[in-house]
Amino acid sequence: MPIKDATIQAVQQTADILEVVEDYLPLKKKGQNWWALSPFTDEKTPSFSVNPQKGIYKCFSTGKGGDAISFVMEMEGVGFIEAIKTLAKKYSIQIEETELTQEQKEAISEKESLYIVLNFAAEYYKKLLQTHEQGKALGMSYFKERGFIGKTIEDFGLGYALDSWDGLLNEAQTKGYKQEILEQAGLILKSERGSFYDRFRGRVLFPIHTVTGRIVGFGARTLKKDEKPKYINSPESEVYHKSEILYGIFQAKKAIREQDNCFLVEGYTDVISLYQAGIENVVASSGTSLTNEQIKLVSRFTKNITVLYDGDSAGIKASMRGVDLILEQGLDVKIVPFPEGEDPDTYVRKVGGEKFKTYLQEHSSDFILFKTRLGLQETQANPSQKAAVIRDIVQSVVKIPDAIKRSVFFRECSELLGIEEDILISEGNKILLKEERNQKFREQRQAKQQAERLDGGGLVEDTLADANTQAPVLNDPVSFQERECVRILLEYGTRETEDGGKLCNYLLDEIDQIDFHDGLSKRIINEYKEALKRNEILAINHFLHHADDQIKQLVVDMVSEKNVLSQNWKKHHIIVPEKDASLDKVVYSNMLRLKYRTIKKMCQESMQMIQSAQSEEDVNEAMQVYQALKQQENELAKFLGIVYS
Ligand code: UTP
Ligand code: MN
Repeated sequence: MPIKDATIQAVQQTADILEVVEDYLPLKKKGQNWWALSPFTDEKTPSFSVNPQKGIYKCFSTGKGGDAISFVMEMEGVGFIEAIKTLAKKYSIQIEETELTQEQKEAISEKESLYIVLNFAAEYYKKLLQTHEQGKALGMSYFKERGFIGKTIEDFGLGYALDSWDGLLNEAQTKGYKQEILEQAGLILKSERGSFYDRFRGRVLFPIHTVTGRIVGFGARTLKKDEKPKYINSPESEVYHKSEILYGIFQAKKAIREQDNCFLVEGYTDVISLYQAGIENVVASSGTSLTNEQIKLVSRFTKNITVLYDGDSAGIKASMRGVDLILEQGLDVKIVPFPEGEDPDTYVRKVGGEKFKTYLQEHSSDFILFKTRLGLQETQANPSQKAAVIRDIVQSVVKIPDAIKRSVFFRECSELLGIEEDILISEGNKILLKEERNQKFREQRQAKQQAERLDGGGLVEDTLADANTQAPVLNDPVSFQERECVRILLEYGTRETEDGGKLCNYLLDEIDQIDFHDGLSKRIINEYKEALKRNEILAINHFLHHADDQIKQLVVDMVSEKNVLSQNWKKHHIIVPEKDASLDKVVYSNMLRLKYRTIKKMCQESMQMIQSAQSEEDVNEAMQVYQALKQQENELAKFLGIVYS
């Protein structure tokens, strides 16, 4: 809900960084600052400091820092407005909302009333479990049988629904809640005859919380042995968007941040059993396969996900598909398989928390390497599958946005598979190219459809022509050389040079003084440099998905049609890395070429200056420039002659 600036300002002025941080961490004074163990990593010596004068915190382990509001955002995993509200509550500041339209008001109050009835229902079910004869006899004894202790039941707010058609309905109506709202919240259903009845009957209940702890729905497990379905879940509603929710995130978020890792399991019971066994950084995607929103949710707290698989291979295959999504978002994924017939819930109950943790440590392996080993087993049994397996692995590797990580995986997978790295890389480029084409195709189709909607005529061609934008074709050798330089940078930037530095640094250093002619190359280089200042190396992937169509197209061409292009390059005497050529040498000679070409061009320009000079003075000056350039050109030419002879 939008809030007024005045409220934001009141919070900013009132919130005291010390008081706010102390709600989460014990602080000790040392010198001017206050210190604590960083909540963002697992550490032994405090590196988290608060400076009350400046009103800021700084974590020296992770580099995170900010004011009271950003601290709450970090800790609670919420946005700015939500953090303001949390702090307003702490300081009893009246939250003033901006004027809303009638429609907005209704939408908000509808949502609010859904939260209210869901919360009411959770309390009602909880009370039945704790105090009602039936709840105690059936629900509570079931949980105890499963080994859940009182604290766990409390922490997850577990409940019980009476085996009756209108237990909740009656209670809600005596409290004055409207049937309409109960229905929208998914708590009651309408029969064909038009009367309402409870959705959950004779089941134990698992409330589903948002990251901030609001209840948005329930999972309900039957207690009858053969009743189908085993679980009934709340339907989607105004407040329950399944694709954005992870079961357990509210209870797990603190531990996820502390451990800097999130375990991903299948369902409610896995989450709860692990939590109770002392592994609190665990969430479940609850049946559906993992979505981007869910991954974003986790990545507010950690960049590491460990997927715990059931012990059957169908389960592994199914969950593997979701993993590429995690890789794509730049998170690191590990996987732990379980013995045949076990799931995390049964296994932790069998061996206990400590042994389980050891098992996790000993059996966790990097997802891509796991997949590679699995694929290797498959191809040994069935060699004709090899190409498909390789493609499958490469498919995952190219999802990783970070170039350094990607190249490490290419190397390791190439070793495991006994296949040359270059083959894997070129396979990867093919996949990227294909995806790019598909994307392009989709865009074109969309553009076409949109154009057709707008009008039936001329616009279509225009839009299509636009979607087809090509990088401008080049004729002049300098620009060719520049593009080759960009290509080397993107393709080999992360490689080490012979003296142990990074190739990108060397290369950028070398071209620092050169003003690129080709606008696209210039922009790519500049963007690359900017990112490097932030210690980030931009991968080809970054440019393949670039917002600028021309850049995208240029880079696609670079990585794909090497052969076509290199023929052109050869024509222009540009050296293209051959398979076995030493990269250092190739880069070096390309740099020389680029410089040579640039100087040559400057010489030509300078000659024109001489010709167009008006006074003798101007001619003299231009001559001097020309001679200096010409000398450099000759030296470079000599040098090139040596390099290439
Ligand atoms: P299980 O079938 O193991 O559920 O599914 P359970 O409650 O642990 O049952 P038992 O005691 O082993 O027989 C594991 C998870 O899969 C989800 C639930 O989250 C459950 O915790 N699940 C299972 C569903 O969502 N719906 C179902 O119908 C079955
Ligand atoms: Mn189970």
